[in-house]
Amino acid sequence: MLNIEDVHTYYGDSYVLQGVSLEVMPGQVVALLGRNGVGKTTLARSIMGLTPPRKGVIRFRNADITHTPAHRIARLGIGYVPQGRQVFRSLNIRENLQVTARGDGQWTFERVLDLFPNLRSRMRSLAGKLSGGEQQMLAAARALVGNPGLLLMDEPTEGLAPLMVRELGRTIGELKQAGTSILLIEQQLNFALRYADIVFIMQKGVIVHKCLPEELASDTAAKSRFLGV
Ligand SMILES: Nc1ncnc2c1ncn2[C@@H]1O[C@H](COP(=O)(O)OP(=O)(O)O)[C@@H](O)[C@H]1O
Ligand SMILES: [Mg+2]
Repeated sequence: MLNIEDVHTYYGDSYVLQGVSLEVMPGQVVALLGRNGVGKTTLARSIMGLTPPRKGVIRFRNADITHTPAHRIARLGIGYVPQGRQVFRSLNIRENLQVTARGDGQWTFERVLDLFPNLRSRMRSLAGKLSGGEQQMLAAARALVGNPGLLLMDEPTEGLAPLMVRELGRTIGELKQAGTSILLIEQQLNFALRYADIVFIMQKGVIVHKCLPEELASDTAAKSRFLGV
């Protein structure tokens, strides 16, 4: 589904991703973990064409998208849920969804709203008036109505109350059941381990560890060394 091969990404002279390789197979939920500032969001931006790599190759469904413009990458079928949600605050919920909707897949408005009942009852509310948790749900719903083949979620639980984290978890569980491929960037270890099929850990711009979630759960040394927990 997604193949990232030896990707090197810079911000100006600042060398952030120093040879990242990672893959997401169809239907897989892949967790990308790592401390703050190691380059997780930069990888998301590289995938989406927002900060393209200077070296390396990114393939989506076997097509080279390394230098494809961002707007085309979204249309090729990668749904992006950016860190910090970035919903359109001055648009209401329905309008936020209409911006990305693409009516040629399983994720119709109705089906997406079935996943997020809280949003259904508030379609005319301005996104800027929603709670952080509701905005996160909206960001996920907005990505889904674009009918992506792959969902790229960057720290979706960040700043959410425990109840909303549980709600989001339920949604990710349902997406997984539906066969959606997900690259889940997370700081909350237990949340990621609950849904991931495979885990990659990043440190200073490289992948330093790859394992099964149950292996990491019982690997105290790796958790402390790579994640500081
Ligand atoms: N727009 C930017 N310009 C310059 N440096 C940046 C920019 N965004 C992030 N960085 C730097 O790149 C590194 C990786 O950041 P980021 O990818 O956001 O990490 P993470 O998502 O893992 O917390 C950090 O050192 C950060 O300060
Ligand atoms: Mg980040």
